[in-house]
Amino acid sequence: MVESDEEKLVLIERRGEVAVLTINRPDKRNALNLALVRALGDSLETLALDGDLRALVLRGAGEKAFVAGADIGELKERGAEESLAGINARLFQKVEEFPLPIVAACHGWSLGGGMELAMACDIRVASVSARFGQPELNLGILPAAGGMHRLPALVGMGMAKDLVLTGRILNAEEALRAGLVSRVVPDERVFDEALEVAEAIAGMAPLASKLAKRVMNSLFRVRPDVAFGLESAAQAVLFESEEKHKRMQRFLDRKKK
Ligand code: COA
Repeated sequence: MVESDEEKLVLIERRGEVAVLTINRPDKRNALNLALVRALGDSLETLALDGDLRALVLRGAGEKAFVAGADIGELKERGAEESLAGINARLFQKVEEFPLPIVAACHGWSLGGGMELAMACDIRVASVSARFGQPELNLGILPAAGGMHRLPALVGMGMAKDLVLTGRILNAEEALRAGLVSRVVPDERVFDEALEVAEAIAGMAPLASKLAKRVMNSLFRVRPDVAFGLESAAQAVLFESEEKHKRMQRFLDRKKK
């Protein structure tokens, strides 16, 4: 039986060199149940092999939320084994390690696992009425799908502890000031803005953008001397690339025409 778009948990749409992934469980505020985690993981596996793509946009369906967290009904039944299996953690790692940059378009609520998912993306664009928070402690658990280390890397340990320990909700302007998101736009613009960011990325030299993401992802995880080595190794590859010669020559020739 073929699923209709309404039944699919993740919708994929191609816009030129950008793929748009829509998490499609709006009646549950896009809460991540196991089926959705699997669907999103499978979609990423498929897209990772698409050599014509340059960037992704990730968004949530419906008016109310990007993603309102892990599915609390399922979470309540999960035990130590499921926690150690890292159901959400492994998905978010797949997002972070996806070979191309991913732009999150955050409207409405990004809570718990939803905020962790947004943080695993490379760039976050927020609508002005978006709200962000880690309410896990209030449910008797921790933001343990990468939240407790990605959050301090983005906003600093002081703000990270304020958010995690108190469950404080940030509005979009506060999220911008904290460094959690890098752009805030009117509500009706959030998807278009995210798409424009992805298109700007798509306009960059393809290998350079993949290497920049990969190197920057590694920088905080390795010793500084290794980080410098990684940067210069990536640059060495690019210095030898045809794309670099083509783009630099284009600049040098620009006045000759
Ligand atoms: N897990 C499971 N179901 C969820 C959910 C979640 N994280 N978030 C929302 N839903 C479901 C609700 O149970 C409700 O289902 P129902 O219609 O079958 O009763 C539906 O989504 C709509 O939720 P509702 O609370 O009525 O929507 P709202 O727009 O008034 O409020 C939120 C939205 C996001 C503020 C609110 O749903 C909420 O606080 N959700 C939980 C957030 C959370 O704690 N996440 C962290 C999980 S670790």
